[in-house]
Amino acid sequence: MVLVTGGVGYIGSHTVVELLNENYEVVIVDNLCNSSMLVLDRIRKITNKEFKFYNLDVTDKNSLKIVFEENDIDSIIHFAALKAVGESVEKPLEYYKNNIVGALVVFDLMKEYNVNNFVFSSSATVYGKPESCPIREDFSLSTTNPYGATKLMIEDIMRDLSRANKNLNLAILRYFNPIGAHISGIIGEEPKGIPNNLMPYITKVAIGQLKELNVFGDDYDTPDGTGVRDYIHVVDLAKGHLAALKKLKEKPGLVTYNLGTGQGYSVLDLVKSFENVSHINIPYKITDRRPGDIGMCYADPTKAYKELGWKAEFGIERMCEDSWRWQSNNPKGYEENSELLDMITSEI
Ligand code: NAD
Ligand code: UFG
Repeated sequence: MVLVTGGVGYIGSHTVVELLNENYEVVIVDNLCNSSMLVLDRIRKITNKEFKFYNLDVTDKNSLKIVFEENDIDSIIHFAALKAVGESVEKPLEYYKNNIVGALVVFDLMKEYNVNNFVFSSSATVYGKPESCPIREDFSLSTTNPYGATKLMIEDIMRDLSRANKNLNLAILRYFNPIGAHISGIIGEEPKGIPNNLMPYITKVAIGQLKELNVFGDDYDTPDGTGVRDYIHVVDLAKGHLAALKKLKEKPGLVTYNLGTGQGYSVLDLVKSFENVSHINIPYKITDRRPGDIGMCYADPTKAYKELGWKAEFGIERMCEDSWRWQSNNPKGYEENSELLDMITSEI
């Protein structure tokens, strides 16, 4: 059985769908601090499969212990974390407490219950300001904000755990920029308030909830001056976790992979692709650079392909199509009425 912490969230819910499709037994733990209970029903509608769910906080060891007691867990995918870079600067203690303590509690219980397989959601943010692109896994690591620091600290803890215990099989997955949604259009990303990230901001402009996009700087050393990122379809990313789980069965010790497409797109490229797919004009204005942003960040995903046999399949247009389907079918996110949901799912 696979324990998925944070399995109700954006990447977690898509990964649970892929796990269920491949007939894994799944138990989800999530305290719903950044997600909706309605996701659970939607996962069931997509997969027609059952799974277990515990509404609890991973930093609460006594509660999480019950999950290990009641289930025969052999692997863990650990998504549960707070993830907003800006908020982490305002509230560092919350980020260190939630992300670090959460991971420590999980590691502790792994030891107590002899669970040896663990997959961790890391981020390209651990490369700081990369020396060049594409970024390889052996590039130097640094961080510029508390969120990134929690990712790097947990990676360091994993490296120490692996040195101390040769029975552990640990995968660090460094995600680049996940966008898109499941093709059903019934699960997707639902940021609270005004989105920080580019794609959710674009889709909110497209449905008329926001007036225009602010493009944060056009004077970077990139082809059109706007920031370049490696956008990856969330379903491709989800599948990367299954590939990592399979790898851990070979008992490799600690492994680290970039999960990206290897292709960089600028802010204006993404706007253009989205407009082509949705036939909606996205008004934008160029503003100052966002503090802490870097110009260019894209992966060299060769290692994941060589060692996991995994590579991203979906291109940028499909990512835009799926983000748009999710947003236009669910203009109010998960608070949509269930009649519409039934209508949509009967067509899958
Ligand atoms: P998300 O916020 O949608 O999902 C995280 C889930 O964890 C949420 O459902 C939240 O309720 C839950 N959670 C948080 N703290 C918890 C706790 N203490 N106990 C139990 N549940 C808790 O975020 P996401 O985009 O799906 O990200 C998943 C993981 O991937 C995170 O670790 C994030 O840092 C990492 N990541 C995300 C991105 C991205 O751009 N989305 C990029 C790189 C890495
Ligand atoms: N951008 C805009 N306008 C917006 C939002 C973003 O122009 O309203 C630009 C940014 O300047 C950047 C690009 O769009 O050039 C992508 O920005 P995102 O905020 O979508 O993504 P980031 O690459 O800045 O951050 C993401 C995750 C972080 C993670 C980081 C590195 O959100 O959690 O990747 O992995 F730390």
